[in-house]
Amino acid sequence: VQRPVAPRRNVRILLIGERGVGKTSLILSLVSEEYAEEVPSKAEEITIPADVTPEQVPTHIVDYSAVEQTDDQLAEEIQKAHVICVVYSVDDEDTLDRAASYWLPLIRRCSPDNRCPVVLVGNKIDLVDYSTIEAVYPIMKEFTEIESCIECSAKTLQNVSETFYYAQKAVLHPTTPLYNYDTQE
Ligand code: GTP
Repeated sequence: VQRPVAPRRNVRILLIGERGVGKTSLILSLVSEEYAEEVPSKAEEITIPADVTPEQVPTHIVDYSAVEQTDDQLAEEIQKAHVICVVYSVDDEDTLDRAASYWLPLIRRCSPDNRCPVVLVGNKIDLVDYSTIEAVYPIMKEFTEIESCIECSAKTLQNVSETFYYAQKAVLHPTTPLYNYDTQE
């Protein structure tokens, strides 16, 4: 069902995914422009002012930590998010499998009629000399709410700002029409 979309005055980005994939590191690398070996389990919610974002919209970035938050709190954050980065680690195939088997279905369950765009983020490319994009294509085909995918490294900062730019873009300039999961219309 197509609906007119009012222009957003802010963007709320949530990062989820398996433990240890680097969600907190990505946020802190974006903010400080340097990599810290030691990060807290959950980053404080941060707001990036409009004038320093590529799309000129204030952007809230929200971390998730399984040790600090309950499933109910996670469900609430998923409902509040305008876009969700599902993060996996390119050096650990299981984390991508879990994106498809757990995290993407969870997003659908939590926001059944409110299609939330997703960016699939493969972190830690500094550790490998291959690309996981081939494995990502079938997942993007199954979950059309995935607006884009990107590989990055919180450690070398490669593609970190691009990752958050893709997330902003998925909200402000979605490429796929809004639709209903059940009917795929
Ligand atoms: P949880 O809080 O358990 O959900 O983990 P998280 O997804 O927030 O991961 P976190 O940022 O705590 O990072 C986990 C580990 O991976 C840490 O030891 C980081 O230093 C490391 N790490 C994060 N990003 C990268 C990266 O891009 N490259 C490498 N080599 N290590 C990384």
